[in-house]
Amino acid sequence: MEKFDVCIIGGGPAGYVSALKCAINGLSAAIVEKERFGGTCLNRGCIPTKVLYSKAKYLSKLKKPERGFTIAGFDYNYADIISYKDEVVSMLTGGVEKLLKTRKVSIFYGNGKIAGKDGSEFIAGINPANPKEDRNCAGIQISAKNIIVATGSAPLMIPVFNIDHKNIITSDEVLSLKEVPKSLIIIGAGVIGCEFANIFSEFGTSVKMLELLPSILSTEDKEISKYIHKNFKSRNIDIMTGVEVSGIKALDLDNCGKIGAEAELKTGEKFKADKVLVSIGRKLNTSGIGLEEAGVKLDKRGKIEANKKNETNVRGIYACGDIIDGPMLAHKASYDGIIAADNIAGINREKNYGVLPWSIYTNPAIGTVGLKEGDEGLSHLKYSVGRFSYAASGMALAMEEPEGFLKVIVDEESKKIIGATGIGADIPELIAEASSYMHFGGTVSDVESTIHSHPTLSEIVPEAALDSIGEAIHKFNPRTAKKHG
Ligand code: NAI
Repeated sequence: MEKFDVCIIGGGPAGYVSALKCAINGLSAAIVEKERFGGTCLNRGCIPTKVLYSKAKYLSKLKKPERGFTIAGFDYNYADIISYKDEVVSMLTGGVEKLLKTRKVSIFYGNGKIAGKDGSEFIAGINPANPKEDRNCAGIQISAKNIIVATGSAPLMIPVFNIDHKNIITSDEVLSLKEVPKSLIIIGAGVIGCEFANIFSEFGTSVKMLELLPSILSTEDKEISKYIHKNFKSRNIDIMTGVEVSGIKALDLDNCGKIGAEAELKTGEKFKADKVLVSIGRKLNTSGIGLEEAGVKLDKRGKIEANKKNETNVRGIYACGDIIDGPMLAHKASYDGIIAADNIAGINREKNYGVLPWSIYTNPAIGTVGLKEGDEGLSHLKYSVGRFSYAASGMALAMEEPEGFLKVIVDEESKKIIGATGIGADIPELIAEASSYMHFGGTVSDVESTIHSHPTLSEIVPEAALDSIGEAIHKFNPRTAKKHG
């Protein structure tokens, strides 16, 4: 039996990054993956959706060309767009495999499972994933001093929604549709629902969203959630909030064999469409991999309890990514993986999710880091909110992207940046800058004394930060910053 310092189960952003970091730290590492490397992010999430997002954005420019242009005629080939998306995914997943090989991480294809212990070593078993694949390593057992579990999550499916993966689909299948559906009902107006509503409405699909809560993107800043609601309405996306979908079934739409689907609300109201996309959250992939047998503590939802080093209650078994606490984000998963790999290598590191940015790719895009207005964390603090509009940025106007704003939250006492959120072109890049200030405990004066290249959208960051103390340079009404608390 081959012996390793670490065996990683799952090759998504948590697993493959932890494997690379283990190797960088001088540990011998094995990784077990049942499909392709990259997990949900590369294969069925962040990256493929960003290809479609980017194409949809290009299409919106073609439909509404920039000033000075007339576009006489254009068309798109959706099947070719999907092929391009597949190429990008293959390139990146292949790249991950190459990186692992370069770092001499041993790769095992199959379903990984903790199969027991041999003295102080864990035994990992590899079961068939796809028996037809000749690269399969099924039947093999390896031993390792440590295990990192990084098995991720999958779309949540509830029986009454009858997901058939053809007409009633999840985010996994919607990415591979060969043609644009004429009509689409989206159940759940969270992050996934809104990203797909944005994409398909641009491609001409008639989109209807059914959301249980009173607002779409309910976890975002209220002003931004309202902004997107208005933006979607103006693009004829039909949104119903405060409604609960109680069942979905496939049905013959025209009595002539055109199969679609029907969603029924608790009130009995029914809606039909070519496809129904169910995006109501995700379930954790923590069953059937030997965790309970190994004594690892899981909560009722199957979430693994991990400490600040990402070690579970069982010494030597670590867990990272969606299956532990914290938001389900690829970069958080990779960070988790690095924390685990460093601790296994004896580098004592504790995680801190305090500065964890995220982005939502609607058009315009949304970005957030740290605290935002309405958060419980602000209720005991004195803070001020600085704000700057894209319409006042020379670069935004040059790009003909005047829509949006950035808000920066500043602690009144220390003048430290404690949050930033906004909507607009390239906002995730601006949020990345705000994250750096926050990571290093930056204050408004730190932001001011950082020279920003002109003209760039990044100049919006110091303007918004300075507005919190009424000192924005390019603002006609600079003393509007509200003080709270
Ligand atoms: P979500 O939790 O963001 O949204 C699900 C929505 O479905 C909620 O608003 C909920 O109220 C609604 N809902 C639940 N049951 C319902 C019912 N019966 N009828 C109507 N509405 C119902 O989950 P989502 O969008 O599936 O995303 C899953 C995870 O993936 C999120 O935690 C997110 O962090 C992550 N993700 C992140 C992305 C990013 O950072 N750009 C992109 C995509 C996903």
